[in-house]
This record gives sequence, structure tokens and C-alpha cells, in this order.
Amino acid sequence: MNTKEKSKVPFLKWAGGKRKIIEKIWGNLPEGERLVEPFCGSATVFLNTKYEKNLIADTNSDVINIYNQLQSNPEKFIPYCSKLFKVSNNEAEKYYEFRAKFNKTKSKQLRAALFLYLNKHGYNGLCRYNSSGGFNVPFGKYKNITFPERYLQEFSEKSLLAEFITQDFETSFSMAQKGDVFYCDPPYVPLNASNSSFRYVEKTFSMEQQKRLAQLAEQTADKGIPVLISNHLTDFTKEIYKNAELTTFSVQRSISCKGDQREKAQEVLALFK
Ligand SMILES: C[S@@+](CC[C@H](N)C(=O)[O-])C[C@H]1O[C@@H](n2cnc3c(N)ncnc32)[C@H](O)[C@@H]1O
Repeated sequence: MNTKEKSKVPFLKWAGGKRKIIEKIWGNLPEGERLVEPFCGSATVFLNTKYEKNLIADTNSDVINIYNQLQSNPEKFIPYCSKLFKVSNNEAEKYYEFRAKFNKTKSKQLRAALFLYLNKHGYNGLCRYNSSGGFNVPFGKYKNITFPERYLQEFSEKSLLAEFITQDFETSFSMAQKGDVFYCDPPYVPLNASNSSFRYVEKTFSMEQQKRLAQLAEQTADKGIPVLISNHLTDFTKEIYKNAELTTFSVQRSISCKGDQREKAQEVLALFK
């Protein structure tokens, strides 16, 4: 990818999005036939690379569902979503009504459209579910919300080169083939045990899973399939990625809903090849 090209914007707000470091990723991602993204989130890397084929996966079935809707029926789906983005729907009462509808509906198309509405109207673009699987993010109180039509269109065009699957990263690794290149962006490891200010750290992804991912990356690279992993740079990640080629740098990250509370975090890109 030419580093002078402008990066494409994902249509979803997503914790840990990779737009800020896309140029570093371009500089480290090897060539190949197929990109495999086992932790796609808003799929920034898929959108901003040019592989012939793409296997895009995540355990979040709502993310994968909306990608599948955009792939199979964009002409109907995009206008269907746009109807939800009326000024009169940017109110707490409407938001909670739509949230309840989202949690109840059995229609995949309606659930996907409401997911987009909730992503843009909910607090801080958070994606959080309660123990019974109900989406429980409160209303976001944004003044103006724009329907991301152009970004949805761009995504649907690019989606023709991809397969989208809801699955755990271990299953994505079991699908590795010669010619693949893996880009893995797991939930970040905490910066240190006492630092809980990085709100988007997902407690559900354990240190054991981080180790397992590094182990799979090493085994996959041994078969001639390169794997690039993003994470925070900590003593723990230095240890688990010790057999990889490391690129380290710092990134300005917003750590609270107030834009002025920012902190520099050290990041690492670990290339197993
Ligand atoms: C840091 S985010 C990825 C951000 C993405 N690169 C972007 O630019 O938006 C981590 C993603 O991993 C997913 N995830 C968490 N545990 C997972 C697992 N065991 N297997 C696959 N995906 C998982 C989450 O749903 C989340 O979308």
C-alpha cells in the first residue's frame, strides 16, 4: 500500500480502531494472496489493504451480521438503515425503544440496522452486552449525527472480496492456507496490573488467550504463513512475542469520553515470519 494514500474510514465506531497506526501496519504487513483478520472489529485493516481475498472474523456476531448484510443486499439495506437516522430519533426515549427492539428482534436485517443506529447514537460508541446477551449501552447525547452513507457504500464494494465469519481466533488459525497473511488485533493487554484507565480493555480476553495467540502465530509462521500482531508494549508482550520481529512506537490515545484526557501508550507490532 502506498503510504501517501489516504486511509479509508470504517463506518462503525470501535474501541481500539487502527486508523491512527495504519501506516505502521502497511510497513509491516507482508504481501500475500489472502488477508486473514481473526479480530476484525471495525475492519480498518481489511478496508485499507489490497489483498485479492479476505477472511474477516470476530466473535462479535453483530459486527459480522452487518458486514454480511452489506455484502448480500446493499441496495436495500443502506436505505433501510438511513430511515433510522432522523433527527427525531436522536432522543433518549427513542434510543431506549430501539435498543429494546434490537434485543428482541429475530430479523437479522433489522438487528443489523439497529446495531448501526446504536453504534452511532449510544454512549461513546461502546459495544457492551449484559450477562444475558442484551445490549446495554446508555444513550450518547450527541448533538449531531451523520448517516455514514459513503462509508457503508465503500464497505459494501470492498465486501465482494471477503468472507465474513463469526468465530473464535483459534478457528481462524485452523483455516490457515499457503499464501495467507494474518493480521491480529486482539483486545489489548492492560498496560500494567494497576492501570485500569484504559476503559476499552476487554476483561474477557485472558492473558492465557494472549499466550495462546502468540503460540499459534509462531506455529503458523513455521508453516510459511506470516502473522502480524498489534498490542500494547509491556514486559508481558515483550516476553510472549520474543521470537518475533518487533516494531515499537507510541500512540496518542483518548482514554476517556472527554477528548482532552489523552495519554501516550507504547504499542508494538510483532511480526512472526
Ligand atoms: C481491538 S479490537 C479490534 C479493532 C480493529 N482492528 C479495528 O480497527 O476496529 C478486538 C476485537 O476482538 C474481538 N474478540 C474478542 N475476543 C475474541 C476471540 N476470542 N476471538 C476472536 N475475536 C475476538 C472483539 O469482538 C473486538 O472486535
